[in-house]
Amino acid sequence: MSNRRQFLQTSLMAATALALPRGAAAGGIDAKTATSNGARVVSTWDFGVGANQAAWPVLAKGGSALDAVETGARWAEGDLCNSTVGRCGYPDRDGVVTLDASIMDGDGRCGAVAALQDIVHPVSVARRVMERTPHVMLVGEGAQQFALQQGFVKEQLRTKEAEQAWREWLKKSEYKPQINAERAAVKPGNKENHDTLGILALDASGKLAGACTTSGMAWKLHGRVGDSPIIGAGLYIDNEVGAATASGVGEEMIRNAASFLVVELMRQGRTPMDACREAIERVVRKRPVASKTLQVCFLALNKHGEVGAFALHKGFVYAVCDAGKCDALLESRSVYTGKPA
Ligand code: GLY
Repeated sequence: MSNRRQFLQTSLMAATALALPRGAAAGGIDAKTATSNGARVVSTWDFGVGANQAAWPVLAKGGSALDAVETGARWAEGDLCNSTVGRCGYPDRDGVVTLDASIMDGDGRCGAVAALQDIVHPVSVARRVMERTPHVMLVGEGAQQFALQQGFVKEQLRTKEAEQAWREWLKKSEYKPQINAERAAVKPGNKENHDTLGILALDASGKLAGACTTSGMAWKLHGRVGDSPIIGAGLYIDNEVGAATASGVGEEMIRNAASFLVVELMRQGRTPMDACREAIERVVRKRPVASKTLQVCFLALNKHGEVGAFALHKGFVYAVCDAGKCDALLESRSVYTGKPA
């Protein structure tokens, strides 16, 4: 509780904001918090709390936003409780776990991998693509070959639990992504099938970076690539403006170049939350019927450290960490209603 109080004291946002421990849902935060060294890290979903906690020591020591987001994303990829990211991700409909990830800094440097098999930390492979190749994205076998050349080791990724879930899914073989309002963390026993770790950081020198990592939609077609490794869809960063990431059904983010859109809207003067809201409205305008059954969520951090989030449907939670207080888990209080803002 004391951390919760401290978090709220440092917040300039509306009095409705709540910060709750991992697994809980609450109000929202859309404004700047004063921080000890100006650094801040924000992440999607309840597992974002752990990712932020892993990333924070990097920022606290004056480290770079890029190192912080890679560290946070690696934490999520290694998390044994996460069926949507990394080691424990659910497979595609052929039973194969394929991972997507991207990383970007505010100077436009970026790297990504898609449909990567048998490598636990796709975000670090993405960073190597960025730093050690002339390319931005490697996919499939080529991505794996590159990872092995870079010293990453192959590991069997399909866990017993993932295998069991896949065999259960095979009985009906229906592809019906669930809206995350009934996520396992909120309602024990439910299965998540389209979460992504999106993590954005602002470091003490005022530089931004972000990363995105996922096993993608459970039971996807083999070869399907979502938004997370696509720069501009699942992730976009610009030091002049801010950073944005997305979670939910990736096809909608790709159709709308949505994270790029959020950053461009902030460039035009929108707050992070307004920019996220407008991006959701674009998604709905393009696919009004499909939008009723799909979850799409955006999280944005501008260069001043202001945070905003907006989701199409209820249930999107995100984690905020600054000045060492890393247990804040907030629910986007803003969901699409179809009414003007
Ligand atoms: N947002 C993750 C995916 O659609 O793959």
